[in-house]
Amino acid sequence: MTLRIGIILGSTRPHRNGPQVARWVLDSASRRGDAEFELIDLHDHPLPHLDEPVAPMHGPSPHAHTRAWAARIAPFDGYVIVTPEYNGGMPGVLKNAIDHVFAEWADKAVGFVSYGAGGGGRAVTQLRTVCATLGLADVSRAVEISVLTDFENYTAFTPREQHAAALTMLLDQLIAWSGALASLRSATEGADHGHVAVAR
Ligand SMILES: Cc1cc2nc3c(=O)[nH]c(=O)nc-3n(C[C@H](O)[C@H](O)[C@H](O)COP(=O)(O)O)c2cc1C
Repeated sequence: MTLRIGIILGSTRPHRNGPQVARWVLDSASRRGDAEFELIDLHDHPLPHLDEPVAPMHGPSPHAHTRAWAARIAPFDGYVIVTPEYNGGMPGVLKNAIDHVFAEWADKAVGFVSYGAGGGGRAVTQLRTVCATLGLADVSRAVEISVLTDFENYTAFTPREQHAAALTMLLDQLIAWSGALASLRSATEGADHGHVAVAR
């Protein structure tokens, strides 16, 4: 079985730096050959502020936009979330996209690549809590990119060499855990793994 990893880009604003970071992750990951990697740009999946009449852990969504987002997320075994830090946390658009679905996240692995003036670590701290709540297993290795030292004039991405090794370690962990959790999911298909029961 070929593992599939989604690289979720969590910023959507005009002139954002995110696409350069996400593209670097995708290009580096795609050279490995031990999994398939795909970019999931939130800009391509616009969602309203959460408008689910029933919390996503309790039932299927009546909304086409949520069903489309769930279908986009569902096929992956693991995720790399590429996130900037905004005012000490993750972007609202990223949290909103995460909150729209539930079952699609459970028992999968996730790793984080952050960027910001200070490397974006505070966004990742928040994301670790959110992802754990959803049953996503977060790998410890992370990549923190500085918009001060890894970008020229805050706009042209020129990552320092050390980040390549950090990304490799993150992906090593992520792929190992994604494979282990894929086995778990197929062995326990249909069972309630301790998360809130969901019928979709
Ligand atoms: C609303 C806003 C708040 C920000 N707050 C922080 C912050 O708290 N910490 C930080 O390191 N950088 C912060 N920055 C700098 C961003 O991390 C940097 O501009 C980055 O390029 C934003 O990602 P984007 O270009 O993909 O939107 C902030 C930027 C914006 C637009």
